[in-house]
Amino acid sequence: MSRNILILPGDGIGPEITREARRVLEACRDEGLDITLDEAPVGGAAIDASGVPLASETLEKAKAADAILLGAVGGPKWDAMEDIGKRPEKGLLALRKELGLFGNLRPALLYPQLVEASSLKPEVVSGLDIMIVRELTGGIYFGQPRGRDTREDGTRHGYNTYVYDEHEIRRIGRVAFEMAQKRNGRLCSVDKANVLEVTMLWRDIMNELAPEYPDVELSHMYVDNAAMQLVRAPKQFDVIVTGNMFGDILSDAAAMLTGSIGMLPSASLNESGQGMYEPCHGSAPDIAGQGLANPLATILSVAMMLRYSLNAPGHAERIEQAVGEVLDRNLRTADIAYPGTEQVTTEAMGEAVVAAFRRSG
Ligand code: NAD
Ligand code: IPM
Ligand code: MN
Repeated sequence: MSRNILILPGDGIGPEITREARRVLEACRDEGLDITLDEAPVGGAAIDASGVPLASETLEKAKAADAILLGAVGGPKWDAMEDIGKRPEKGLLALRKELGLFGNLRPALLYPQLVEASSLKPEVVSGLDIMIVRELTGGIYFGQPRGRDTREDGTRHGYNTYVYDEHEIRRIGRVAFEMAQKRNGRLCSVDKANVLEVTMLWRDIMNELAPEYPDVELSHMYVDNAAMQLVRAPKQFDVIVTGNMFGDILSDAAAMLTGSIGMLPSASLNESGQGMYEPCHGSAPDIAGQGLANPLATILSVAMMLRYSLNAPGHAERIEQAVGEVLDRNLRTADIAYPGTEQVTTEAMGEAVVAAFRRSG
């Protein structure tokens, strides 16, 4: 049975990087993967086309898709928009919420060829392999009440609510414990339980789950220390589980351990295993349209899609190996280039990965 993949390129570098990832999907299709590809606008591109960041017909297509590939949304063109509910980013947040994509997997894996590209010392990062499990449909991103207004005395104020219930914590906890079971058996839960009641509950629930996973060693860390430990000694971590906002921030920090934010893919999964796949980075307006964007995070997100949603682990592995082969040949986009390597464009990088993939068939 053919599986349907919806591609949502979005804004800025989104169309450039998804174009290369699409080529990889097409190469998979040429080699026996039974898929159909469809595309729709999201974010600023959708605002420009239809006035809203996520049109209802795009949401319906997303719900019906077996998997979704998203580039990135947002950019200066829409930054002046006052109503947060109408901005490009809302299109992405609405997709996550409407599809129930609560489980966000962000693997920070350093390709050995990129040891020199990281801003940290080689001995600190070499061999790095961390999985950040980020809760994606709750926490302060979605809590009510929220808003900004002006008090009677003329003072402006803004407010958001950081809230989780135990069911939300338990289900992301289970994803993380199971991930740790499949990896090296160590799970670090990151919170701010010394200050925030909501994360005291988070810690309690993680502790309550632990006896069900006797083969996993659970530890806890405050988020400020976790940020420091990530750049001090990142290899101490195996799996990290944390809430929506802490996970957002820590995953960008972890990205730099892998050489570039352009190397960090992600999967966002719901309870029925449907997934949306996207690079962790944004629309990079500063480099859009110049052929400078690194497409590898998006291409590696395709590999995650093949593994988690399309049951095609063989194709996934071949894509990851093709990326390794291209890096072996010293091809680099600007973000991971350094003296002695060959700087190539977004398109040339995509073509090189596709060629290596086809050769491995
Ligand atoms: P960003 O991730 O877009 O860019 C941060 C820096 O990383 C920039 O210097 C950029 O050039 C670089 N960078 C990012 N991706 C790269 C790639 N693939 N190759 C090479 N360099 C890359 O973050 P930002 O500047 O804070 O945000 C820009 C816009 O993107 C904002 O509108 C923001 O809301 C949006 N955003 C969207 C997503 C998403 O759609 N998932 C994620 C983060 C930010
Ligand atoms: C990410 C992004 C998004 C987030 C924004 C664009 C809504 O930063 O996917 O990491 O904060 O989740
Ligand atoms: Mn982010």
